[in-house]
Amino acid sequence: MHFVITSLYNQLIQRVAVCVPFEESTKTFLDAFAAVLKMAGRGRMVPCACLGLFGVLCWVWVSFASFPDDQLPLEALDAVDRAAFQPQSALSEMEFSSISSYRGPGNRDRRINKELPILLWWSGGLFPHFPGDSERIDCATSSCLVTSNRKVQMYKRTASIIFYGTDFRAYEAPLPRLRHQTWALFHEESPMNNYFLSHGPGIRLFNYTATFRRESDYPLTLQWLPSLDYLLQPVAVPLGEKNRLRREGLAPVLYMQSHCDVPSDRNRYVDSYGKCLNNKPLPENLENTATATGEESSFMNFVARYKFHLALENGLCPDYMTEKLWRPLHQGCVPVYRGSSSVADWMPNDHSVIIIDHFPSPKSLAEFLKRLDENDDEYARYLEFKKPSRITNTRLLEALETREWGVNDMSKPNYLNGFECYVCDQENARLAAERTYRKAPNKNQPPKPKMANNSHMGCPLPGPGYGHVTDLPTDDGWLQIWPQDYWQSLDQAEGLESLIRHNESDPSLLWKHIQNMAVSRARGKH
Ligand SMILES: *[C@@H]1O[C@H](CO)[C@@H](O)[C@H](O)[C@H]1NC(C)=O
Ligand SMILES: *[C@@H]1O[C@H](CO)[C@@H](O)[C@H](O)[C@H]1NC(C)=O
Ligand SMILES: *[C@@H]1O[C@H](CO)[C@@H](O)[C@H](O)[C@H]1NC(C)=O
Repeated sequence: MHFVITSLYNQLIQRVAVCVPFEESTKTFLDAFAAVLKMAGRGRMVPCACLGLFGVLCWVWVSFASFPDDQLPLEALDAVDRAAFQPQSALSEMEFSSISSYRGPGNRDRRINKELPILLWWSGGLFPHFPGDSERIDCATSSCLVTSNRKVQMYKRTASIIFYGTDFRAYEAPLPRLRHQTWALFHEESPMNNYFLSHGPGIRLFNYTATFRRESDYPLTLQWLPSLDYLLQPVAVPLGEKNRLRREGLAPVLYMQSHCDVPSDRNRYVDSYGKCLNNKPLPENLENTATATGEESSFMNFVARYKFHLALENGLCPDYMTEKLWRPLHQGCVPVYRGSSSVADWMPNDHSVIIIDHFPSPKSLAEFLKRLDENDDEYARYLEFKKPSRITNTRLLEALETREWGVNDMSKPNYLNGFECYVCDQENARLAAERTYRKAPNKNQPPKPKMANNSHMGCPLPGPGYGHVTDLPTDDGWLQIWPQDYWQSLDQAEGLESLIRHNESDPSLLWKHIQNMAVSRARGKH
C-alpha cells in the first residue's frame, strides 16, 4: 500500500516537474506591461512609491530545486504539505484515499468477472483503484473489469485502452492497434503538456475523450471550480479597507507566479524573471512555501487585500481555465485574465473579469485599471456577483448542477472514476449493438464508428505573450521551444497514424515513418 501511494505521489511530482518547462508566453507580455507602466509613471512625475500601479510579486517555487526528479522518500513528502506543489491539475489535490474505494454507482449487470469487458489503463500511475492492479466496476448501466496490467493489451476481451494525455507518447503507443479496441483519452491538464493532442491526426486516434473542452465526451471544463458556493464565499475585503491599504502603499494588482522544476532551462529563466519582476518580498511568515499556499487562511488574507489579480494561464486554449482564474473570484479580487478565449462564457455574470486580449496594448490596460482603481462605483460592479442571486450565467449554473463528478466532494465520484464508468457503459453498449448486428445482419445496423476530432482539444499554435512572432529575435528562447514543439508533435501524430495504418507492432519505428513521410513530401514537391 505504501508503495502504491509513493508511486502515485512520485508520479504527481514528476508530472508537476515535467509539465512546466516554463510559463509559455507570459514573460514578454509582463515585460512590456511593466515597462509601459514605468514610463507612464515617469511621464507624470508620480512619486516613486505610487509608481507601482502594478505591484508585482514574483514567487519562485524554489522548493522544487531540492527534489530529485524521480525519487522522493515518503518521509520527505510527509514533511512537505502536498498542497505546496502548486498543482498543475485539480487531480493532484484529490484525496487519493477516497479514490481507492469507489467502484461505481451499481447496476443490475449479473455477469461474473470473467464475462466482463476489460478496460486497460495504459498510464498505470493514474489507475484510480488500490490496492492491487485490477478492479470490477459497476457503473450506471453495466459492469467492466479495469486494470493497469499491460499483459491484457492483446486480449480479445480488452475492449478499450485508457490513456492519460500528459503521459501519452507516440513512440510508446500500444501497437498493433487492434480493430476491436477503442482508445480513450483523459487530459485535463495544460495543452502545453502534450501538443500531440491538439492536432487532428493525433486526437482522431481516440474514440472517447475527457478534456477541458466543453465539446469533449466527458467535459472537465469546470474542474477547478469546486462549487457555486466557492464563488460566493468568502465576501470580498470591503472596498473601504482596500482603499485604505492602497493609500498605505499597497499596489492594486497582485501577480504571483509559481514555478516548478524545469528539466531544461530553469535557472536562466528564473533569474531573468526574478530580476525584472520580483519587486516585492513576501511577508516573512508566508515565505515558507510549504504553508503559504492554496487555501491556507493567512495566505488567503494576504492576497484578498488586492483589488486585482493578474491571472495568466500557462497555455492558451478555449475552455482551459484553472485556479488562477477561479481563486481571485473566490477571494473577491478582480481577475485580469489571459487564457481561454471563451472565458466569458463561464463567468458568474457578464461583468466579473477583465480580459487582457480585449485591450489593444498593455498601456491601455494599465490606464483602464488605473481608472477603476480611482472609481469605486465602477470597481464595485465587478464584484456584484458576490451578492445573493447575482450569479446569472445559466451555462455556468447548469454545468455545475448537472455534472456528476465532484471536486473534493466525497459524496460524488471523482472524474477519473467517472470517466472510466463512461467508457465502460459506452463499450458495453457498443458490444451489445455488435452482437445484435452479427445475429441478424439483415435486420440491424452495425454501430456507427465514434471518434474524437479537433473540437475535443484543438489548441492553437502558441503565440508570443506580446507582439508578433516576426518581431522576435531568432535566438529568442520562447521562439526556439514552443512553436517547434507544436509542429514536431504534428509530425509525431502523423507518424503514429502511419504506424497504425501499416499495422506495425513496434512503436519505436515511429522515427522511421516520420522520416519516410518527410522524404516523400520532399519528393512530391519536385
Ligand atoms: C475508434 O477510432 C479509430 C481511429 O480513429 C477508428 O478507426 C475506429 O473505427 C473507432 N472505433 C469505433 C468503435 O468507433
Ligand atoms: C466533432 O465532434 C463533435 C463533438 O463530439 C461533434 O458534434 C462534431 O459533429 C464533430 N465534427 C466533425 C467535423 O466531425
Ligand atoms: C496486424 O498484426 C497483428 C500482429 O502483428 C496480426 O495478428 C494481425 O492479423 C494484423 N492485422 C492485419 C489487418 O493485417
